[in-house]
Amino acid sequence: MVSEAANAGIDRVLWTEAEIATRVADVASELAADIRRLAEPAVVVGVATGAFLFLADLVRRVDVPLAVDLVRVESYGDGTESSGRPRVTADLKVDVAGKHVVVVEDIVDTGNTVSCLIAHLQKKGALSISVCTFLDKPARRTVDFQLVGGGKFYRGFECPDSFVVGYGMDYAELYRNLPYVGVLKPEMYSKKTDN
Ligand code: IMP
Ligand code: MG
Repeated sequence: MVSEAANAGIDRVLWTEAEIATRVADVASELAADIRRLAEPAVVVGVATGAFLFLADLVRRVDVPLAVDLVRVESYGDGTESSGRPRVTADLKVDVAGKHVVVVEDIVDTGNTVSCLIAHLQKKGALSISVCTFLDKPARRTVDFQLVGGGKFYRGFECPDSFVVGYGMDYAELYRNLPYVGVLKPEMYSKKTDN
């Protein structure tokens, strides 16, 4: 694993595939217990592309009926810093009006993306909005987003203030397929000049 990571340009591994699987199973149990108590149907909304592996692993372990859909939210710029002005660039197919929504994210960083999505889902009439993020980087939070209708915040791990890749997360669209999460070697993005 270590040499594989080194070959992939990873400086250090933060969470191995096995550690991720264990933690995702725990989060899924908590989420399943909460969804089971709801009278109305739940819709799990994954944020493309970063949440695709977490979403897939999570919903397979939530053994209650639910709908799964995707949204795409993009900020200008594609480096290690987002522009802070995200917008929804691919919308839901499922109607979330009157439903409990769980937003599934790869990582909550500044909070801009989640905040934009909460406003978007609220406009569509979601009954409650929860956020389930694989990683949470509270040190970088600039937006204090509010959950809606008694929604909960679930997180897999608290992430240190480093740019991480793997398990869905990218740098310039690469590294998403790594089964673990690691910190990129600085030289892997040293060519970056803007944002
Ligand atoms: P926020 O809007 O600043 O909270 O950032 C949210 C999005 O930025 C996440 O959904 C990721 O797509 C991306 N992002 C933030 N931090 C990282 C990171 O360390 N690695 C990869 N992507 C990240
Ligand atoms: Mg994302």
